[in-house]
Amino acid sequence: MSETDPWWKSAVVYQIYPRSFADSDGDGVGDLRGAIGKLDYLKGLGVDVVWLSPVYRSPMDDNGYDIADYRDVDPLFGTLDDLDELIAGLHARGMKLVMDLVVNHTSDEHAWFQESRDPSSVKRDWYFWRPAREGFEPGAQGAEPTNWASFFGGPAWTYDEASGEYFLHLFSPKQPDLNWENPEVRAAVYDMMRWWVDRGVDGFRMDVINLISKPIPLTDGAVAPGQPLSYDVSQVANGPRMIEFLEEMNREVGIGERRLFTVGEMIAVDVDRAREYTSQHHDRLGMVFTFEHVTLDQEPGGMKWDLKPLSLPDLKRTMARWQKGLGTEGWNSLYFENHDQPRVVSRYGDDSPEHRVASAKTLATVLHLHRGTPYVYEGQELGMINAGFTTAGDYRDIESRNFYTIATGQGVPAERALAALAAKSRDNARTPMPWTPEGGFTTGTPWLPYNAAAPEINVEAELADEDSVYHHYRRLIALRHELEVVREGRFELLLPDDERIWAFTRTLRDEQLMVIANMTSQVAGVPMGSIPSLERAELVLTSLPAAADDVQTLEPWESRVYRIR
Ligand code: GLC
Repeated sequence: MSETDPWWKSAVVYQIYPRSFADSDGDGVGDLRGAIGKLDYLKGLGVDVVWLSPVYRSPMDDNGYDIADYRDVDPLFGTLDDLDELIAGLHARGMKLVMDLVVNHTSDEHAWFQESRDPSSVKRDWYFWRPAREGFEPGAQGAEPTNWASFFGGPAWTYDEASGEYFLHLFSPKQPDLNWENPEVRAAVYDMMRWWVDRGVDGFRMDVINLISKPIPLTDGAVAPGQPLSYDVSQVANGPRMIEFLEEMNREVGIGERRLFTVGEMIAVDVDRAREYTSQHHDRLGMVFTFEHVTLDQEPGGMKWDLKPLSLPDLKRTMARWQKGLGTEGWNSLYFENHDQPRVVSRYGDDSPEHRVASAKTLATVLHLHRGTPYVYEGQELGMINAGFTTAGDYRDIESRNFYTIATGQGVPAERALAALAAKSRDNARTPMPWTPEGGFTTGTPWLPYNAAAPEINVEAELADEDSVYHHYRRLIALRHELEVVREGRFELLLPDDERIWAFTRTLRDEQLMVIANMTSQVAGVPMGSIPSLERAELVLTSLPAAADDVQTLEPWESRVYRIR
């Protein structure tokens, strides 16, 4: 890596969802002191950066993605002193801290919004207040200023009787959207970001950041057939001032000079736009989280709940297209899991006891050996599986609960709605981190039950077993640190149409890495003519303890990584 290259090109990020990570005070909710107690665990895994989901003061309508005070820690999670200690503890171990930056919206309980509720307030314009649609009585059916729907179901506008107007919320009514057109809003956000940087944080994960620039004036979206409220997401995302706002933020916060880590979560972004946002020729974003590869198991044009089986060629080609498209100008983030996605072993792998370990390792291998910065979401390094909830009452997540109520209200059979939740609910990823066979996350009652598999899938068991998913992640992370070809190598997809094998090479000067993986639960043959010769190849990583000498057939979920020089 050259001196001028961004440091995060060789980094692996670990995401802590604090509510579910480790609880120090027995109230059943994870907290900062709990996380402080696990820093040696993270060091042992080898990760370089921790992304901490929101711990700010919040009414917790969306588990902290609804922030009431950007400069304080919610008592549920601890204090600012605890956060300082977490930062110091990470830095002392050579790791960095990236905070979640949620500035498309605040909580409705934020002082800014409280003030804004008064039509004569100087902060009225800090949010999007609009009168009822012309010709409609305020509050009447269909009177919303535009026909936009909230991502969490229902209209994106809520009527505020006291002021006689509606406010915009692309998420819950408790998450009103900030008006980034107003320069005072932007200045207040940058000031807050500088305050955190001065406190020692090393960067930001920017929540739904490409929604901050709205298409002004706000107008109706195309109504999808059969849907009273709808819009094409691309109509509200990537507004005309996105690049201007990102460049201004960079300047004002000193992101480039301070070499801060940034990743922007982006709904409805295509490869070309992502390349512009992450271009190394500009100071905009270090990388973006994109969604294409995690929407391939839903009906095209449908919602996440409209399930469709994954086609492996689709997944391989999608990821390859992003690799090529970002090329050497932009930079990829590599993720399968986070607090919004189900567990990948259950989703794209095989979570049966027979194949769970090998499929978790193989999914990790293919992901981490693409070009980009890999993310590990808490529990992913254990090969954790979906929650296995069976009743609507099991779910806590606002998106899941709203979906169930709306879908069943519209006549979708309960079994079908429950099947969609079992596959896609965000709560799948939010069950408490199992530290021991008994759980070990809290001494109290966890806010969400442990996964029923915790007695088998837990940190204690996996640390003790050299062949565990955990140790496989550890080796993969070490490989990225050791080999320049993992960081810099050019990506080439092999066998794009093969329905069972995922194979690709990474090439840097005269060195090559070849990854070859059987992505099924059956033995699979490898079309030998289509892969490089393995004559001078050294096997550097496998998903199964003992790999056969030849590569003509691969065991179920077997993957191998060869280094060819
Ligand atoms: C992002 C977060 C998600 C949250 C939403 C609204 O998508 O990852 O958890 O619900 O933004 O803030």
